[in-house]
Amino acid sequence: MPLRARTQRYESVIRNGMLMIWHDAEGSPADHDILPPELEGIGTDRYTDWTRKVIDVPNAHCREIVDNVVDMAHFFYIHFAFPTNFRNVFEGHMATQFMESTGRPDMAGEGYGDEDLILKSEATYYGPSFMINWLETDYKGFLTKVIPVNCHIPTGPNSFKLQYGLCVEKPEGLDDKTARYIGTKYSDMFGDGFLQDVHIWLNKAPVQNPLLCEEDGPVYQLRRWYEQFYVDAADVTEEMTERFEFEVDTTKANEFWRAEVEENLARKAGEDSSPVEPVETKS
Ligand SMILES: [Fe+2]
Repeated sequence: MPLRARTQRYESVIRNGMLMIWHDAEGSPADHDILPPELEGIGTDRYTDWTRKVIDVPNAHCREIVDNVVDMAHFFYIHFAFPTNFRNVFEGHMATQFMESTGRPDMAGEGYGDEDLILKSEATYYGPSFMINWLETDYKGFLTKVIPVNCHIPTGPNSFKLQYGLCVEKPEGLDDKTARYIGTKYSDMFGDGFLQDVHIWLNKAPVQNPLLCEEDGPVYQLRRWYEQFYVDAADVTEEMTERFEFEVDTTKANEFWRAEVEENLARKAGEDSSPVEPVETKS
């Protein structure tokens, strides 16, 4: 090691099989009380191993990904599901989204779940950039527990590296190979879901003061929560960390969406039954 080499030691810990590093601009010692919780059963035979993928998002601020915590409507437009229940809780360094959805029948043929796919999701950010998502899917009585995690690291003022992965609880009675296969399938499915979000971030312009309707969710409150990670610890205010709860009423939105889906289905049925027109070819 050269004598004058400038090196820095970062405190680290292994949690749930992942390496966590404490980065603190003020140089304070690591606060182990705010580590993400230990996930029971992870690293044992009950779950598949973590899958892991990395995507570079070259032109979006990290806040764009965090904004998704309150975004109820994008589950319909981006992930092709009906969000039937949607609630947020922010408290301390944590921000949680509780969401329940069913698949969209008009998208079922495109590789997405149909209306029989019921999804229950609880997703919590532990700090500004590490999220654990407890997901349960029920497809005609076949229950699956999946735990996606994602973590984003800023690589510049307007870019970040997104790492994500998941593990699946091995359904009982299945051999390892089949369980691994299911794990890979889920990883691809949720990976594709993430990519749908990424496409938005790649093309989204930041808006500091959006004009919102009630169904847009508590965007301003979420951003106030997020602010705590951009100030010195002494400047964190009660407003940023106090408990805040908000439930979005999804009734009206789902009425419109169901009508839209019915229209799509009717149009598809019409297209399927219409005679094939001869195609003119140029030579
Ligand atoms: Fe999303």
